Amino acid sequence: MTVAIRPLHPTIGAACTGVDLRRPLSADEVAAIARGMDQWAVLVFPGQDITDEQQVAFSKNFGKLETTFGGNVRKADEHRLSKEFADVSNLDHHGRLLAQTDRNRMFNLGNQLWHSDSAFRSPPAKYSLLSGRVIPEKGPNTEFADMRAAYDALDDETKAQVEPLVCRHSLMYSRSQLGFGEFTDDEKAKFAPVRQVLVRTHPVTGRKSLFLASHIGVIEGWPIPEARAFIRDLIEHATQRPFVYAHKWRQHDLVMWDNRQTMHRVRRFDDTRYVRDVRRTTVAGDAPTIEQVQEKVA
Ligand SMILES: [Fe+2]
Repeated sequence: MTVAIRPLHPTIGAACTGVDLRRPLSADEVAAIARGMDQWAVLVFPGQDITDEQQVAFSKNFGKLETTFGGNVRKADEHRLSKEFADVSNLDHHGRLLAQTDRNRMFNLGNQLWHSDSAFRSPPAKYSLLSGRVIPEKGPNTEFADMRAAYDALDDETKAQVEPLVCRHSLMYSRSQLGFGEFTDDEKAKFAPVRQVLVRTHPVTGRKSLFLASHIGVIEGWPIPEARAFIRDLIEHATQRPFVYAHKWRQHDLVMWDNRQTMHRVRRFDDTRYVRDVRRTTVAGDAPTIEQVQEKVA
């Protein structure tokens, strides 16, 4: 089999076929997929009926995996999946649907806001790989925005303005936008803001992109309301329809995206009625976006 890549959108998103993710990949196959990621930023692998172990093995071809610690409000004994997985399903650890007012569900509703995975960590994530194990018939799309195209479309004045800016990202900022604002002392420590540049350069292609997420609550040196209004404006700019690929899920799709050059969000659906079992592995980033001794700020 030969890896084949077919565009799904003019700049972001392509289908990748000719590869079986249940088996070890050759170096050539890994290289072809990595090239596809550099160019298209989102790759869809249809018809991949894989186990958790196979997903972990495939993901490790692209770097070290993150663990989920620090990314959610699940208690230690509430995890349904092993530590390499971010559980973005609507299920509890007994495999039951999360109730409407379940704290974990309400926290996860933040995934409906535009974000880049683990932008609240330093280093932030490289790739995310999301496997659709159970996809409801009326399940939600996941939308991906091309942050390179968004950067390119800025006028020169705005490019110059954003270039030196440093933002602080935290899960507390994104959740607070939805009125989820109460955190335990442990969570406040776990979700302490981290610093990230606002404009980043892709290490392979050299292309610049906006590193935006709803996790941003502060632009250093700016008054908070001005910073938040500006970030809102940039997110609105970056998610105009021509920059967005909307993925309609089919069972056994595996979708892989480059968090360094995209944002994404899941759309709303009737999640207290229908099971959506999607499992994410996350490839850690190579380096902080800012070379600072102190990455975490109070
Ligand atoms: Fe996400």
